[in-house]
Amino acid sequence: MLRNLPAYDSVLRTTWHIVAVADDIKQDQPLQAHLLGETIALWRAEEKIVAVQDRCPHRGVSLSAGNVKNNSELVCPYHAMAFDSHGQCLRIPADPKIKIFPQAANLHTYPVKEKYGFVWVALQPPDQDIPDFAEWKKADANSFHCGPYLIKTSAPRILENFVDIAHFPFTHSGLLGDPNFPEVFDYRLAVEAGEIVASDIHFYQPNPEGTGEAKSVSYVYKIVRPLVAHFRKGENADQQFSIFMAVTPVKETQSVAWLGVCRNYSAEVSNDELRRFQNDVMAQDIPMVESQRPQKLPLDLQQEFHFPCDKMSIAYRQWLKQLGVQFGTC
Ligand SMILES: [Fe+2]
Repeated sequence: MLRNLPAYDSVLRTTWHIVAVADDIKQDQPLQAHLLGETIALWRAEEKIVAVQDRCPHRGVSLSAGNVKNNSELVCPYHAMAFDSHGQCLRIPADPKIKIFPQAANLHTYPVKEKYGFVWVALQPPDQDIPDFAEWKKADANSFHCGPYLIKTSAPRILENFVDIAHFPFTHSGLLGDPNFPEVFDYRLAVEAGEIVASDIHFYQPNPEGTGEAKSVSYVYKIVRPLVAHFRKGENADQQFSIFMAVTPVKETQSVAWLGVCRNYSAEVSNDELRRFQNDVMAQDIPMVESQRPQKLPLDLQQEFHFPCDKMSIAYRQWLKQLGVQFGTC
C-alpha cells in the first residue's frame, strides 16, 4: 500500500527549529512536539532539556504520555520501561534480571538547545548554529514571546508572508498600513553570507508597534535561515523595535509560527498589550496564507505572477531552490 510519507529533506533536518517554549517543559511531565513528520518527547533531566523520538522501542507507545521519575528518567506509561538523559534504557520492570540492555532498547535522541526562552531541536546534527539576535540580549530591551500560532499551510508560505510588506495596507489596514498609501518604494536587496537582506524600506504605518502612534517607518528585513527571518524597525538606536519569526514545519502543509519581540522604548505599554496586538496581526495573516494555493511554496518562478517589489520573495524562492529545500515547497 502506498503511504503518504513526508518528503525527506536533508536541509531542514540539519537545521535548528523551535519546538516549544522552555518554561512549558516542567520538571515531572514530558511534553510532545512535532517536527518534519516526526513526533518528539521533551523532558527535563535535572535542569537540562532532553529531546527523543516519542516512541517506546518496546511497543511503540508515546513516551510523552509517561512521566519523569527521580528528576532525570523518562518512564513509559505502558510497561514502565525507563530511560536516562542519553536515551539509554535503565530498567525493564517486567524482566528485572536484565541489567545489560541491547542498543535496540535505547531511544533515539536529537540535538536540543535552549535559546531566547525557546527549545530548539534539529533532527540531525545541525550544520549552523541557532541564529543570533543581538536585540534579544540588550539589557534595555523588553523581550517577549508570541505564539505558538498553528497554521494550516506550508512553513515557507508563512515565512514569505512575514517578509511581504505590500500586503500591509490591505490585510492589516489601520494597524500596519493604510490603503491610501499602498506603494512599496524601491528598496535595497542583498544576498550575502547566507542571508537575504532588504534595507532602505520606508513605509507609512498608522500604528506600527501597537502603541497607537502613526509614523513613516524604516525597516531592515533579513532572512537568516530557510525558516527564520527577522526585521528591525527604526533608524534611531534609541527607538528600535524588532521581531524574529521562526516557522516550525510540522507536516508539509501544517506549521507552527513563533515570534520573539524586542523593543527598547515605550516601557509604559505592557508586553501583554503588545502581544495582543501581534495576535491581532497574525489573526489577519492566517486566513490569507491558509487560502493560498498551492499550499506548498512554488520555487519555479513561472508558477506565480510577481510584482517588481516582490524581489525579496523572489530571492527567497531562488535561495530555497538552490539550497535544495523540499519539505513544503513545490
Ligand atoms: Fe501580514
